Amino acid sequence: MNTIVRLILLAVALALPATTVSAQAGFEWLPPDGCEILLSLERSDVLDVVTMDKSQEEWRAFFADEGLPEAELNTLAAYLAIRGPVAESGLPASPADLTCEALPMEGRQLLMEQCQNCHSIGPVVLMGKQPVAWVILMEGPTHGVLELTEEQMQAIAHYLHFNAPVPEEDIPPELNQPLQGY
Ligand code: HEC
Repeated sequence: MNTIVRLILLAVALALPATTVSAQAGFEWLPPDGCEILLSLERSDVLDVVTMDKSQEEWRAFFADEGLPEAELNTLAAYLAIRGPVAESGLPASPADLTCEALPMEGRQLLMEQCQNCHSIGPVVLMGKQPVAWVILMEGPTHGVLELTEEQMQAIAHYLHFNAPVPEEDIPPELNQPLQGY
């Protein structure tokens, strides 16, 4: 392999993590998801934590001393209850190496991937609904085509329930077109 090819491959390899991050560029205004909140706590026992099986209430109690804002505590508890426990085999050896890519996709990521193909995301995150109402909407005639799993719907529903409505001034206008115009 000549040097130029090596250098190009190296550049591509170095650019990869940046690509993953920039998939979320432009969405920093959306409140953090359960995985980001978990990693922000920088717990040395995080690799054990993600393999534990607990209910939302149990997770709330588990993280009660972390001093998280209520919405973040709820978002984190719902994320781990719905998407966990994670199989040990897919996890890195060191807690410092754990990234959201190694964990199941959570509500915010699913929302960005699944909910912008037909209409703006803005009007969606301006609505306040109970989780069950979000699920009913996603199972309804206009959204049934999405073929989301029950777990994925629950993850989106709980992320939205605990974090929406977001302040309208936070939403970039190009992401906040009226639903009718889709
Ligand atoms: C396959 C296309 C499509 C996708 C993908 C899609 N929607 Fe919709 N959505 C629609 C249509 C069509 C409407 C009705 C538009 C209108 O009212 O003008 C709608 C309307 C809505 C409304 C307003 C409903 C109401 O009763 O006011 C919400 C909220 C919504 N979508 C949420 C979501 C969420 C959450 C997702 C991702 C899980 C999503 N949509 C993905 C097609 C889609």
